[in-house]
Amino acid sequence: MPATNTASTYGTVTKAFHWLTALLILTVIPLGLIAEDLAFDAPLKVPLFSAHKTLGVIIFFVALARILWALTQTKPGDLHPDRRLETLVAHIVHWLLYVALVVVPLSGWLHHAATSGFAPIWLPIGQSLPFIPQSETLAEFFSGLHWVWSKILIVSILLHIVGALKHQIIDKDATLTRMWFKQSKVPETSEREKAIMAPIFALGIYIVAAGGAAAAGMLSHGDREPAIALEQVTSDWMVTGGTIGITVRQLGNPISGQFDDWTSVIEFDPTATGTLGHVTTTIAIGSLHLGSVSDQAMGTDFFAADTFPTATFDADITADGSTYLATGTLKIKDITLPITLPFVLNLDGDTAEMAGSLALDRRDYQIGQSMADESSLGFDVRVNINLTATR
Ligand code: HEM
Ligand code: HEM
Repeated sequence: MPATNTASTYGTVTKAFHWLTALLILTVIPLGLIAEDLAFDAPLKVPLFSAHKTLGVIIFFVALARILWALTQTKPGDLHPDRRLETLVAHIVHWLLYVALVVVPLSGWLHHAATSGFAPIWLPIGQSLPFIPQSETLAEFFSGLHWVWSKILIVSILLHIVGALKHQIIDKDATLTRMWFKQSKVPETSEREKAIMAPIFALGIYIVAAGGAAAAGMLSHGDREPAIALEQVTSDWMVTGGTIGITVRQLGNPISGQFDDWTSVIEFDPTATGTLGHVTTTIAIGSLHLGSVSDQAMGTDFFAADTFPTATFDADITADGSTYLATGTLKIKDITLPITLPFVLNLDGDTAEMAGSLALDRRDYQIGQSMADESSLGFDVRVNINLTATR
């Protein structure tokens, strides 16, 4: 059996590539569909997604090798060139498959690289990609493309298999046997001529599908409706900027995020003795952006944002040498616990810049009770606060 294609049959390398890809693709698709369907805290969700991604990245490289190989090869001629429409459809489907082999894994991989957290790729490469910043907007974009293009792939495979079965069962011709390994008699054909229609048509389908997905709002971040939007507050010191961020460890990897909506009422007199002032910070839980797990963090087992839309930090400010302390309580959900936030303060006339950090144990606030294992979700949650306020 020749390794290379001839004008009438596929060579062993082409056949090996074809059936290896078919096997990998027909494995990776159910992995993706099943993993997607599982509940967030189902024990199999993360390993199935990791298997999906790992296999997907492998498919990407196999596909590149396959395409490079195909470019060097003669294309066996069509068995029924007279059936023009049927032949054109078969060619379009082949092109849809070739394009999918690149764009489907690539869009999945770009989505993975642009977001943080969740299931890792089980390879030493590819957790992040060059020129791809961590961005939820970008992640949403690629996730939408991955969804819609993987559906084109699924439909194309179905058409492709139905076509192959039709040739085998109804036409009883050599279409399937000449892609199989056993040497069999195949009719002489002359090399297929290069045609431009089918690849253009196939590419057009991917572009139109992407346009349709964009128009349907699938490629942009559907902002979560926050259960509450905080009212502006007035106080002695007005906050003019800053961030309240958290870092958690998921599957051993840090994921950082921040709350976009919070207010602080600050009374503070640096010349006072004893208690220097008081701070009340209210945080809209629904404004949290936390990599790929922002939505899950709102769930009943985590922040339960629908029932408890805000968290409140209420503390007195004192000084201990050059370190300041905010000592009071932090209420998350319906649990109020004592807490001390040490911070440094830079006072410049009527402008104050503060930066502080503390670690919380999520179990104290009954967050992620279903994830009792620290290796899936770390117990410590690091909170970083910095803000600028003017008098
Ligand atoms: C059970 C599943 C499958 C069967 C029975 C099957 C069968 C075939 C057959 C018989 C051909 C030769 C067609 C011809 O000579 O005109 C072919 C070609 C092809 N198949 Fe499949 N296939 C399967 C799955 C897949 C999958 C999953 C992919 C990729 C995603 C794929 C991609 C291709 C491509 C790109 C060609 C064109 C090869 C070329 O001419 O360069 N196939 N397949
Ligand atoms: C040829 C390779 C691949 C195929 C055929 C494929 C197909 C699929 C399918 C069918 C789904 C389920 C979508 C649904 O809900 O209907 C899915 C989801 C997903 N895939 Fe893939 N995939 C591939 C490669 C990859 C790669 C390489 C990655 C990442 C490295 C990846 C990441 C994901 C993610 C994160 C999801 C969850 C849905 C989302 O939020 O976008 N996939 N994939």
